[in-house]
Amino acid sequence: MTTQPMTTQPITIATLTAAEAEAALDQLADILVNAVAHGASVNFLAGFTAEEARRFWRGQLPGIAAGERILIVAADGAQLVGTVIVSFAPQPNAPHRAEIGKMLVHSAYRRRGLGARLLAAAEAAARDAGRSLLMLDTQSGSDGERLYRRCGWTKVGEIPDHSLTPNGRLAPTSLYYKKV
Ligand SMILES: CC(C)(COP(=O)(O)OP(=O)(O)OC[C@H]1O[C@@H](n2cnc3c(N)ncnc32)[C@H](O)[C@@H]1OP(=O)(O)O)[C@@H](O)C(=O)NCCC(=O)NCCS
Repeated sequence: MTTQPMTTQPITIATLTAAEAEAALDQLADILVNAVAHGASVNFLAGFTAEEARRFWRGQLPGIAAGERILIVAADGAQLVGTVIVSFAPQPNAPHRAEIGKMLVHSAYRRRGLGARLLAAAEAAARDAGRSLLMLDTQSGSDGERLYRRCGWTKVGEIPDHSLTPNGRLAPTSLYYKKV
């Protein structure tokens, strides 16, 4: 699917229920496929298909329905153009902790503040749920790393050769946290 930016309406940020996410599986898949195709290191490799992406998002639905994670999206009208997941730590000794993941903005919508808005919404949702310590990892030197630094996250360190980029090159990952 081709996602073309529209300029006539403001982009909204919203939380999706599991049912809403299920109804939007194709759009969510499109955002994830687009990210991998543009080189983002988000667990998948080049050649990642829409069907594989739908399978990933389908796998998130039970956790969303159970309140174990929150899916926040950016939308241009009815078109989803960005995502972020807040996953609550399940451990009994970590009721204050959550992880941020799948922080994605469709390539046609980048560099206009949507990443920062999605991240702020994720932080607020975590805080509202009583999760005051947030963690994430991101490929060192990526657009994501600049976003987290700009939004006040603290770098803990870097793991060399942590993951393969989509085109199969080992790259380092940086670990971040933020108290919200
Ligand atoms: C990381 C990512 C989510 C950022 O999304 P985004 O919507 O482009 O983020 P923002 O617009 O808030 O910020 C991006 C840049 O645009 C700039 N910007 C923000 N609003 C702007 C505007 N109105 N005009 C011009 N530039 C703007 C920001 O200052 C920032 O600049 P910098 O990267 O040079 O520091 C996006 O690049 C992405 O999806 N990447 C692929 C997936 C990925 O790697 N995710 C992280 C995995 S952990």
